[in-house]
Amino acid sequence: MNRAYTVNELRQALERVPRYPLAHLPTPLEPLRRVSQSAGGPTIWIKRDDCTGLVFGGNKARHNEYLMGAALARGADVFVWGATVQSNNCRQTAAACAKAGIDCELYLSKANSAGKIEVQGNLLLDHLVGAKVTLVDAVIGPELDALMAARANELRQAGRHPFEWRRDVVTPLAAIGYVPCVLEIVEQCRQNGVEPSAIYLSSAGSTGAGVALAAKALGLKCAVRCIAPMTWPWDTATDMAQTATAAARLLGLPITLERSDISLIEDYIAPKYGVPGPDCFAAMNLLARQEAILLDPIYTGKAMAGLLDHVRRGMFQSDEHVVFIHTGGTPVLFAMRDQLGLQV
Ligand SMILES: Cc1ncc(COP(=O)(O)O)c(C=O)c1O
Repeated sequence: MNRAYTVNELRQALERVPRYPLAHLPTPLEPLRRVSQSAGGPTIWIKRDDCTGLVFGGNKARHNEYLMGAALARGADVFVWGATVQSNNCRQTAAACAKAGIDCELYLSKANSAGKIEVQGNLLLDHLVGAKVTLVDAVIGPELDALMAARANELRQAGRHPFEWRRDVVTPLAAIGYVPCVLEIVEQCRQNGVEPSAIYLSSAGSTGAGVALAAKALGLKCAVRCIAPMTWPWDTATDMAQTATAAARLLGLPITLERSDISLIEDYIAPKYGVPGPDCFAAMNLLARQEAILLDPIYTGKAMAGLLDHVRRGMFQSDEHVVFIHTGGTPVLFAMRDQLGLQV
């Protein structure tokens, strides 16, 4: 049986792990007054992790504090990273490298990109912060991983010290970054005199694993609901529980998360990963027009659509409070202009 830790105990545990400060923290927690009223349910609060800085904000600013901390502690002088062409992860990792004064090589998979690739959105930002960008045909997964591993070996043989993307190393470190976010939420809710019944976010990986770990460590009563932007070829909830447990070990905490500790909701992915549907557009429009907050069409728009659907289904009373973590992703709006359904 795990015992509950205090906010201060978790802060002390976090201090034992190397961290390179990158994010603007704490991010604000704000009530969505107009949206809560028009949705007719609980008061929805938004944790503005789209305001973490590090080139247009997002969850990877927090992830990168611990990734960069580990990389620099190992004497790394170059990151070898990769994902999709419009990866938020790669944009913020490239920005972290710029700030830390080390090189960044990005291998961006064209495999899922339809049509001509414009230097826009995240890709434009990758170039602006000085990453060495290579567009590749390799598909995300074992193929792209092998390519990055080969490049890292090449660099090692040339006397460099690469820190390369490796799932088993990266995901627990990234998860640690979301423990402080929960500590901020707890303190900000206390200051506002509210006790949330649930925390919602877009995740099928490290971010949700970190939030679930912190919630379990603190013994929070509120549910953590991860709205998945995608499915993986493995059992995602089990994988997230393992990531959270590995993160707990890095923090020196004897906490184990089971599959049942992860609430993963895969009902809002349609039409498919990376492609927004009508509910996502509706959520994006609502937030933009009633709160002047921009969501993105791949992650946060779908997560907000999920939360609004839960409100519509009567899962909350009107005197309850719910926190939505805005994990960023907005630069992609500029690259997906033609897919946003705008009548302009
Ligand atoms: C904007 C945004 N939100 C949420 C996520 C989900 O992160 P994860 O599944 O790694 O927790 C991502 C991942 O790339 C993202 O870019």
